[in-house]
Amino acid sequence: MRLEGKTAIVTGAASGLQGEVMGYGGATARIFSKEGANVIIADLKDEIGEKTASEIRDGGGSAKYVHLDVTSEHDWINAIEVATSEFGELNILVNNAGIGDPSIIEETSVDSWNRQMDIMAKGTFLGTKYAIPEMRKAGGGSIVNVSSVFGNVGSLGDSVYSAAKGAVRTFTKATAVQHAKDGIRANSVHPGWGMTPMTVDPFSDPDILDPKLATVPMGRLARPEEIGYGILFFASDEASFATGAELVIDGGRIAW
Ligand SMILES: NC(=O)c1ccc[n+]([C@@H]2O[C@H](COP(=O)([O-])OP(=O)(O)OC[C@H]3O[C@@H](n4cnc5c(N)ncnc54)[C@H](O)[C@@H]3O)[C@@H](O)[C@H]2O)c1
Repeated sequence: MRLEGKTAIVTGAASGLQGEVMGYGGATARIFSKEGANVIIADLKDEIGEKTASEIRDGGGSAKYVHLDVTSEHDWINAIEVATSEFGELNILVNNAGIGDPSIIEETSVDSWNRQMDIMAKGTFLGTKYAIPEMRKAGGGSIVNVSSVFGNVGSLGDSVYSAAKGAVRTFTKATAVQHAKDGIRANSVHPGWGMTPMTVDPFSDPDILDPKLATVPMGRLARPEEIGYGILFFASDEASFATGAELVIDGGRIAW
């Protein structure tokens, strides 16, 4: 019970149904619940998000779904109000929601730039901004931002995605520096490729998947829980001296 009694919001966590393709956020929500946390599953996908929360409750966990568009200040204020009114305080925030666009720079539209920056960079900023006062009231907290290996290194495509994930990476460090004295830690997790709802279509095509796997020393995709356990470490008190840090979980993809 590494998170016993703590309350966590995990964004982009709707896809956590057993027997279906799970997202990194959905797997994280399940792990958090097993470790004793009250979990707020926050996403745009209301139907599957409600089902995931209900499946967790049926298994004896504590979970609630809330509709959250991470680009909306109004939705953030509501989600945090739901967390604190249901469970008393907010201790953990995982900014995990994201979208992808594999386009190269010359083929990327301004709309795509705005949308990706809004969801990943602005969404992380807004969640952090509204979580901090509640975490301060709770005597501290832990913010875990899901970046990507493409927040650390360049990609042959994914142009705006890399920029947005790079923003998430350094915004995490700004959060860590500004709020260390409040007892609020902020760290980023940098996953490599995994088979999730976001990638299941392209990665089902061997012409797309095989060249990617050829660049991964472990030669396989991540299982969602392998990312979730990294997020759990930063969320838990075991990481009490870790802030502004980054954890790459990518089967060795960017080690060479
Ligand atoms: N799958 C991979 O290979 C991979 C690799 C590196 C990083 N990541 C990152 O992991 C995170 C989770 O992605 P995933 O692969 O598990 O896919 P996923 O589709 O399960 O998760 C993304 C979730 O974000 C939600 N979302 C999108 N826009 C939103 C918004 N405006 N407000 C709230 N929720 C929104 C989606 O509905 C979805 O449930 C993302 O940040 C992604 O960039 C994924």
